[in-house]
Parts: sequence; structure tokens; C-alpha cells
Amino acid sequence: HTPAASRKFKILVARAIFPEALAQLEESYEVQSNQSDKILTAEELKKALSEVDGALVAGSERIDAAALSDAKNLKVVANISVGYNNLDVPAITAAGVMATNTPDVLTDTTADFGFALLMATARRMTESEHWVRSGKWDQWSIVNNPLGMDLHHSTIGIIGMGRIGQGIAKRALGFGMKVVYHNRSHLSDADEKSCGATYVSKEELLRTADHVVLVLPYTAQNHHTIGAPELALMKTTATLINIARGGIVDDGALAQALQGGRIFAAGLDVFEGEPQVHPELLKCKNIVLAPHIASATEKTRRAMVDLAVENLRAALDGKRPPSLINT
Ligand code: DGY
Repeated sequence: HTPAASRKFKILVARAIFPEALAQLEESYEVQSNQSDKILTAEELKKALSEVDGALVAGSERIDAAALSDAKNLKVVANISVGYNNLDVPAITAAGVMATNTPDVLTDTTADFGFALLMATARRMTESEHWVRSGKWDQWSIVNNPLGMDLHHSTIGIIGMGRIGQGIAKRALGFGMKVVYHNRSHLSDADEKSCGATYVSKEELLRTADHVVLVLPYTAQNHHTIGAPELALMKTTATLINIARGGIVDDGALAQALQGGRIFAAGLDVFEGEPQVHPELLKCKNIVLAPHIASATEKTRRAMVDLAVENLRAALDGKRPPSLINT
């Protein structure tokens, strides 16, 4: 057994990354990489973690006590994602392993997408496109066109007011929207002012918002934050946007609400059990669906990989990674 100091560190790259980033890693480390991008099974992941000093993973890799049970040399798990509900942080900490994520670099890209999804949903873009493509659009009409809901001068209710929530609030101000939010804690006065946002209870937000946007992290406490009782509080003219995580919304209850006209429309980038989508949601017309792409621009995905690599390198160099989760 060669002592760690005199050998190259071994790392796992659990998902496909940009070739240039991989090539740079290969200059410094012995790299075991899964460029097929086929998600590793729990067994494959556990075995791979048992052989490496560091790992670049994503939301697809569940890192818990079982995954770590043979990981004798592992020092760092660098998540290529800001959300880290795939990481069992107490278990990782107990194993003496550092965990990191990729905040900040995706904030604006994700807020842009949240706003795009909101606009597409409120103005029935997907439904309209299907109408045009299917050749059913035969004339301009005052009433028999897909009539949507306005964004400008409406009330947006943001649940989860972290970096991305605040980014959405700032964009909403440009549309003359009234911004209310609900969060675990109140923002500072200065942050509330810069977002033009007012704190309200979750119930008040659901009752008063024309557009409800979910941007909160997924935890056991947040499971089904929006279910049938919450949907029942919303305006029948309201839209619901989920760019946070599947599981925050009860997708079955949402499908019922959409089909029954309980709310106007929904825009979803994330799903319970994705990439599977609840079959009843697929039947709804008043929905815009996206495949978990809120952070998916060329520039931002590169920045996410670069930050994850920076975290991994720092940890293996014995330094504090810039976005360490388990201090
Ligand atoms: C994130 O960064 O959390 C995105 O949802 C990708 O997982």
C-alpha cells in the first residue's frame, strides 16, 4: 500500500462532464470516469467510492452511509449542483468526508429560467404552439384564442427566498409585479428592500398570489409543501411554478387541481420520481413541462463543473473548499 502523499490521488467522475474539464483532471489525478453518463447503480457507486480519494457527483448519486461503507480513502464529495438533497450530510460528516455544492454560479441562469417558465405558463405558450403545429389555428379571434393571465402588475408569491428566489423577485420588479415571499427566516431589511419583497405567511401567500413560484430546498420537512390543501387555498386564476425539486409538490394532487380547474396552470421543471412524470400530469393541457433544465446553459454548466472541480482540488490539497457544506 503506497502512502497517500507519494501517489497520485484517485478520483471518481460519476457523470459525463465537458471533455476539457476531464482532460485537466487527468493531468493531476488517476481518474475513473463514467463518460457513458449511464447512472451508476448503488452497488457500482459504493464500489467506485471504495477506490477513490475524491468524487465528483450530481443529484443522481445518493451519497449516504451505505454508499460510504467501504470508502476508506474518500476525503471529498463534490456535488455538481446547488441542491444537495442527494447527500446525507450527517452521514458524510460522520464518515469524515467533506461535502461541497455549486452555489452562486447558477443563480441568474436559474432565475432567468424560472421567469421564462412562469411567462410560458401564464401565457399558455406550449398549448399555443401545439395549436399552431397541429394546423388547428384557422383565424385570429378576440375570444377563441388561448387567453392567458397577465404577469405585469400582478402579485408573485415566492416560496423559498434564497439566492434564486431573490433573483426571481428582482426580475418581477421589472414587470411591475408586487412581490410577497415566504421563507424559513425573514430577509434582512436591506435585502427585502432590494427585492421589493414583503414577508407573508404561507397561507396568505397562497391566498393572494397570482403566480406562486417554488424555489426552496428539498428536505424531509418540505415534502409536499404544496398538496391538495394548499392548492385549495390558491386562486382559481393562479399559476404554480416548481423549479425547486420534485417531492415539494404532490404531483398527483396537482394533476387533479389542473384537470378540475382548481388552478389556472402549472409550469414544472422538476418532478416526483423524475425522469418519470406522473401520467395524469401528462394528460393536462394547462401545463408547461421541462426536463430539469433551469441551470442548463453552456456557460453555467461549465461554471458548475469548474466550481465543483475547484472544491475537489482544494479538499485534496488539504485546503478549505470554497463551497463546503459540512463545516
Ligand atoms: C441544482 O443545481 O440543484 C440543479 O437542480 C441541478 O441538480
